[in-house]
Amino acid sequence: MHLKLHFLSALVASIVAQHYAVPNRPEGAFSYIQPANTTILGQYGHSPAVYPSPRISGAGRWEESLRKARKFVAELTLEEKATMVTGKPGPCTGNIYPIHRMGFSGLCLQDGPAAIRNADYSSVFPAGVTIASSWDRKMMYDRSVAMGREFKSKGAHIALAPAVGPLGRSAYSGRNWEGFSPDPYLSGVAMGLSVRGLQDAGVQATAKHFILNEQEILRNPTLGRTNDWVFEAVSSNADDRTMHELYLWPFANAVHEQVSAVMCSYQRINGSYGCQNSKALNGLLKEELGFQGYVMSDWFATHAGVASMEAGLDMDMPGTPLRKVILPDGSGYNSYLGGNVTLAVRNGTISKERVNDMVERIMTPYFFLKQNQNFPTIDPSSMKLKALAPSEQLFYDWEAEVTAPASRDVRDDHGQLIRKHAAASTILLKNEKNALPLRSPKSIYVYGNDAGDTTQGPLNQEEYEFGNYAVGGGSGAARFSEHVTPLRAIQERAAAQGNALVQFWLNNTQILEMDPSSMFSTEEPDVCIVMTKSWASEGWDRETLDLEWEGSAVVDKVASVCSNTMVVIHSGGINMMPFASHPNVTAIIAAHYPGDQAGYSMVDVMYGDVNPSGRLPYTIAHNPTDYEFAPITTGVTTNGTEDWQSWFDEKLFIDYRHFDKTNTSVLYEFGFGLSYTTFALSNLTIHKVATGDIEALPKKQDIAPGGNPALWETLYKIEIMVHNTGHVRGAAVPQLYITFPEQGPDDTPVRQLRGFEKIELSTCGQQTVNFELMRRDISYWDVAVQQWRIPEGEITISAGWSSRDLVEFGTFTVA
Ligand SMILES: *[C@@H]1O[C@H](CO)[C@@H](O)[C@H](O)[C@H]1NC(C)=O
Ligand SMILES: *[C@@H]1O[C@H](CO)[C@@H](O)[C@H](O)[C@H]1NC(C)=O
Ligand SMILES: *[C@@H]1O[C@H](CO)[C@@H](O)[C@H](O)[C@H]1NC(C)=O
Ligand SMILES: *[C@@H]1O[C@H](CO)[C@@H](O)[C@H](O)[C@H]1NC(C)=O
Ligand SMILES: *[C@@H]1O[C@H](CO)[C@@H](O)[C@H](O)[C@H]1NC(C)=O
Ligand SMILES: *[C@@H]1O[C@H](CO)[C@@H](O)[C@H](O)[C@H]1NC(C)=O
Ligand SMILES: *[C@@H]1O[C@H](CO)[C@@H](O)[C@H](O)[C@H]1NC(C)=O
Ligand SMILES: *[C@@H]1O[C@H](CO)[C@@H](O)[C@H](O)[C@H]1NC(C)=O
Ligand SMILES: *[C@@H]1O[C@H](CO)[C@@H](O)[C@H](O)[C@H]1NC(C)=O
Repeated sequence: MHLKLHFLSALVASIVAQHYAVPNRPEGAFSYIQPANTTILGQYGHSPAVYPSPRISGAGRWEESLRKARKFVAELTLEEKATMVTGKPGPCTGNIYPIHRMGFSGLCLQDGPAAIRNADYSSVFPAGVTIASSWDRKMMYDRSVAMGREFKSKGAHIALAPAVGPLGRSAYSGRNWEGFSPDPYLSGVAMGLSVRGLQDAGVQATAKHFILNEQEILRNPTLGRTNDWVFEAVSSNADDRTMHELYLWPFANAVHEQVSAVMCSYQRINGSYGCQNSKALNGLLKEELGFQGYVMSDWFATHAGVASMEAGLDMDMPGTPLRKVILPDGSGYNSYLGGNVTLAVRNGTISKERVNDMVERIMTPYFFLKQNQNFPTIDPSSMKLKALAPSEQLFYDWEAEVTAPASRDVRDDHGQLIRKHAAASTILLKNEKNALPLRSPKSIYVYGNDAGDTTQGPLNQEEYEFGNYAVGGGSGAARFSEHVTPLRAIQERAAAQGNALVQFWLNNTQILEMDPSSMFSTEEPDVCIVMTKSWASEGWDRETLDLEWEGSAVVDKVASVCSNTMVVIHSGGINMMPFASHPNVTAIIAAHYPGDQAGYSMVDVMYGDVNPSGRLPYTIAHNPTDYEFAPITTGVTTNGTEDWQSWFDEKLFIDYRHFDKTNTSVLYEFGFGLSYTTFALSNLTIHKVATGDIEALPKKQDIAPGGNPALWETLYKIEIMVHNTGHVRGAAVPQLYITFPEQGPDDTPVRQLRGFEKIELSTCGQQTVNFELMRRDISYWDVAVQQWRIPEGEITISAGWSSRDLVEFGTFTVA
């Protein structure tokens, strides 16, 4: 999503000044150009027209709130309606102005998916990819409830979270970490529970970015040499089945949970901009999925007024077009919506009904979540931390807000929760010779620039050399009110346990220059911990999958002299680990971005207070080239308006679906993770839950949020017994995969995740786990009939501990 407003205004100015602002990629970067191919453009190049925009019906318990919204809208003037659908500068990331005469105090929209970003005395939660690694449904929900409470207490009506676009098609995409996993099922579960959590806390959730927003660079139109809009934003071109089975899937979970808002994305979809694509917004989202809330634009993602409203856009954010430069007197701040809505209704280009529908969609979730009753005031510190540009202040009436108490502490006991969640999301990838858990080491040597405090201050929006990475950058970044570093947590623990010796080196360059014989002051330490990291941020895709700041070289250097070297990685996703088979590397931990208790959650796992139970939400391959199946499109040496095309030719085969299809050996597969104990699975049984015959196609029913309600009905239940066969208590993550029949649709993945649970078991403990298979789980998208269809023939169920460690099997045939 959006960077800080003043920052973006500066960006606009710089684009205008430079005339040619194609993002560059440094030498050696993973770089592809996929020029326009008119043959293919003919096929994908336009999105089918779907009009008119479906009206809100209130389906799914929103009828009463819709009545209130209609009553509210009926009393508004046309100018007021235009205000309701258009952002303006103000204290929050996005602002809808109050209408005092109606007792409506406006809407405050705040970033982002890991925390309320423009705030102090607030928490930084584990990032999306981190909590996805917990594979723990309760934690996914609890995290969002806690986060939602912080948003609400700071006066934010709308959280610009959660994210599931990008899904993670490319390992390089800069924003994967804000979302969950390239697996749509895991992402769908996380998405649904995150929406439910935020909304149960009284805050509107925003599912973003809709849709196919799978890369950062080229995401916006860019000025070419002739000072005209030469380069249209990259177009993500995907076929209908891929759209449904991968990218739309988790959005369906969000809509099923009655998400209040959906944010349309920057890039184009089949040639048409995300915020004016009628097939995507009117067709897929509002018609097929029955979405009842409102579509808001990503910041500056609106490129037309009437066309966008007709295509399903309901709210323009932040309310000014990217192409305009805002002058200090405020001129130029004119939305494609705003005054144009009034004009367009008056001159008959857009119907009054469409505009009413837009406002009704905005106000219905507001009433449903009772945001009209005693909603907290906006914390004035948000305004200051956002650093308003002068032109913004011109528009904003500060009076109403400055009297509210500032810098309110909203953290409650969330630190405990974050510590627990991040520890449960920590993935142990290697543990040789039972090196972990640590047993009161007397001497601990810590190496690496990820270990200590940042030297850059509390808002780590951009990459920095010194300091722990506990969250990523861009609009998903967050300001740290507290940040427990790994070094601090190790020092505290060492002090508490017999005053162990802790020595540390935090400068990677210096470590690499050290004489190996001087790496230790005396004899070899009990343990060497190498803290490594890699950065990911909105606005840029990753240039490499390697650990940054020579992290792997630092590991090699330390491991060449220390026979008990442990590697901890803080990163936004996939990293290459060339040291994985090094005999002196005894342990590898992937902790992702753990949030503000980073050090404590790491130490809890390393010292065995918490038995690791995180599992990989993606696949770590052997080589970067293994990920070339879904290249990022770059336009460094190209010229044409339409040249930025991204062909989703790999179709359904991303991440493990690709590696399984090509039978590629990988380093650590999707779903993998170690524990300090061992588990066994047994007695898989399959029960048909549905009574009577099951038809291949769902019965036609009225569309409810999430689509045809029949898709969400449980048809089968799989039971399996899980045993803790080891010597300590721990949490197991049994996983269920489905394989479609031979005679099923062509080009179907070998197996796909369709169930997971996390259960805690004491030694010798055992428990039955149930996986419920809904109709959607055992169907594929039949493009010809435009329905989810259950294939004919025998469906295979595999249960196990990862996508490649499957131990129990069963089959059933639907009839
Ligand atoms: C364009 O795509 C078509 C169909 O896939 C292919 O046959 C043709 O070779 C492509 N042309 C270019 C110039 O890449
Ligand atoms: C994109 O184009 C493909 C191929 O023509 C089509 O199947 C699909 O429905 C289109 N999707 C959208 C959102 O336009
Ligand atoms: C209509 O939209 C255009 C493009 O953003 C803008 O320049 C113009 O000022 C708008 N008109 C009004 C009345 O807001
Ligand atoms: C009506 O107003 C809209 C919004 O300003 C404008 O885009 C459109 O061209 C106008 N149409 C006519 C027929 O004047
Ligand atoms: C890190 O070490 C290198 C090499 O010794 C040195 O040039 C650099 O100044 C050091 N950086 C800091 C911040 O101390
Ligand atoms: C492992 O560490 C020992 C020091 O204990 C060192 O002698 C040996 O060379 C190291 N092994 C490798 C492969 O670097
Ligand atoms: C881009 O356009 C310029 C100016 O017309 C031309 O000189 C150059 O060769 C073009 N580059 C490519 C890659 O087509
Ligand atoms: C996949 O690769 C493994 C190991 O390389 C091999 O044993 C197996 O036969 C292959 N499977 C298929 C279906 O090609
Ligand atoms: C599991 O299956 C075995 C063999 O069929 C059976 O003896 C045992 O009772 C089953 N255990 C449970 C808990 O159902």
